[in-house]
Amino acid sequence: MPYISSEILEQIRDAADIVDLISEYVVLKQRGRNFVGLCPFHSEKTPSFSVNPEKQIFYCFGCGAGGDVFTFLMQHEHMEFPEAVQFLAEKTGIRLEQNREPGEQAKTEQLNRLYQLNLLAARFFYRALTAKQGKNAAAYLVTRGITPEIRKKFALGYAFEAWDSLLKYLETQGFNPKEIVQAGLAIAKEGGTGYYDRFRNRVMFPIQDQRGRFIAFGGRVIDGGEPKYLNSPETAIFQKKYTLYGLKLALPEIRRTGKALIMEGYMDVISAHQHGHTNAVASLGTAFTREQARLLSRYAQEIIIAYDSDNAGIQAALRCISIFDGLDVRLKVLEIPEGKDPDEYLKNKGGEAFGELINQAPTAFEYKLNLSLKQHDATTVQGKVEIVKGLLPDLAKLKSSIARQEYIKLIARKLNISEEAIYQELKQEYKLQKNGTAEDKKVNFRHNIEGSSRRVKESICRPEHDLLKLVLEQPELVLLIEKEIGFAGFTDIRVTRIFETIKQLLLASSQAPDVVKILEALVAEEEKQLLLALSSSDPLPVNDRIIEDSIKAIKLMKLKQLESEKRLQISQAEKEGNLDRVRELTLLLIDLQKRIQSLK
Ligand code: CTP
Ligand code: MN
Repeated sequence: MPYISSEILEQIRDAADIVDLISEYVVLKQRGRNFVGLCPFHSEKTPSFSVNPEKQIFYCFGCGAGGDVFTFLMQHEHMEFPEAVQFLAEKTGIRLEQNREPGEQAKTEQLNRLYQLNLLAARFFYRALTAKQGKNAAAYLVTRGITPEIRKKFALGYAFEAWDSLLKYLETQGFNPKEIVQAGLAIAKEGGTGYYDRFRNRVMFPIQDQRGRFIAFGGRVIDGGEPKYLNSPETAIFQKKYTLYGLKLALPEIRRTGKALIMEGYMDVISAHQHGHTNAVASLGTAFTREQARLLSRYAQEIIIAYDSDNAGIQAALRCISIFDGLDVRLKVLEIPEGKDPDEYLKNKGGEAFGELINQAPTAFEYKLNLSLKQHDATTVQGKVEIVKGLLPDLAKLKSSIARQEYIKLIARKLNISEEAIYQELKQEYKLQKNGTAEDKKVNFRHNIEGSSRRVKESICRPEHDLLKLVLEQPELVLLIEKEIGFAGFTDIRVTRIFETIKQLLLASSQAPDVVKILEALVAEEEKQLLLALSSSDPLPVNDRIIEDSIKAIKLMKLKQLESEKRLQISQAEKEGNLDRVRELTLLLIDLQKRIQSLK
């Protein structure tokens, strides 16, 4: 993706118009300056979702979702930021190309040729299955139980036994050997005299990216040769860690159900699709990566790990679970009886039985607990200690305190110990985590915002929030506020930080920042939340009286706070019999009361 200037982003944001965009997903009705509708991010019966055309933002007062056009697409359509930009640029007809760096054009051209080359190769392999020399391969697929439909759906093919059949074909299509090597489909002979096909006499599994472009291949031997699978090397268009086999085909079902199956291999995925589980994907011969986890969690809320049940499969599943740490998905682990791989199970027992396994799949936590129960002797003290100790980090990590409570109950029951004992251990674990990694802290931090602080002392902060609302209408006001009362000492610390940010933006540019600009400049999610909430609620009419009143109210609040502190100090001093101090404090108190009177 080319670098995109903030001017272009602004242009796209304006052209896209948030009301138009969101209207495609949500029925909006105008109410005052805003449009309202039923929130698409949580289920509700009365509308708390509001779209503000002037500020070009949306916000849900129910669940706190909010942002601009890009954020909306990222949250609703699970796009990444660059994707959302691209999407809206296309929609609004704004060209991103114009500020591409020189050389970018040539590079795009080169990538396009790689895609084209892979597509032609996939077609060539596909046709080869129906050729005479492809007979054995076609027969092999039949023995694996693959139907013609599924063969077509996955574009399965065959690479001829000859050394250069693909090379020759691609050359007739206008590609030179160098490009074919770059695409990973041919290999230069040692000594530099010519080239040969990478894949020979193999059943071919084309690999598509999530947009359906052919980017690489896996090839399986038909007889018992080695290696069993051969894969394309990494190329300019194929990076293993970002690729999931079958994702393009599985996406509709994953979107529809919010659930995805992760499997180990090509054959598992194909088998799953053939037996009606069309939400299956696989990592490609390598361990599941964080990038793949992120990719998948953009589309799925529930992910079921369906690996072999042998020891290697269990280890891989445990690793996979930890890869999802901190990502917002429900994780389950499929348990296949008798260590069979999913492909075998599907073939022997069918799709429905497999569906039953999915329904019974334990959550990642339960899975770990079960494993631990198998590994330790839960009848001994030592065994119990080990089991609880092993599960503490996972208990601490759980986002839902209800889930935590339920799991603690479960452990207590299985080990015949008290829940209290587990809570005690957990407390220690939290202390440990406090000194843990930054990543851990981030997760906990996010958790806190989602929980309690969203509705921070709304009533006490009312004048502060009013003031912030006024500033949003007229950002220059922050300077006045700084002079009159300063930024420090607001009850709601978020207000302080937002004011500081607005002041910085004001000083950095001649133009007053709009809400979207301020949102971009803020880092903490809780501050963005407050900003969105306040700018989405009905604005206050800006006039000097209201400004004065709010400032006055805040001053008054501070003075009253001081007043009650003084009273406390005085009674303290009286108790101690320190009369000088009482007199001194009383004078201060009277002064404070005078100031309070004058403000009223
Ligand atoms: N794999 C690989 N290279 C190998 C072996 C395996 O890239 N030499 C990858 C493939 O993506 C394969 C996955 O690891 O699909 C799982 O391996 P395995 O279970 O051995 O293969 P299956 O998919 O079960 O294939 P089959 O049933 O045909 O043996
Ligand atoms: Mn297999």
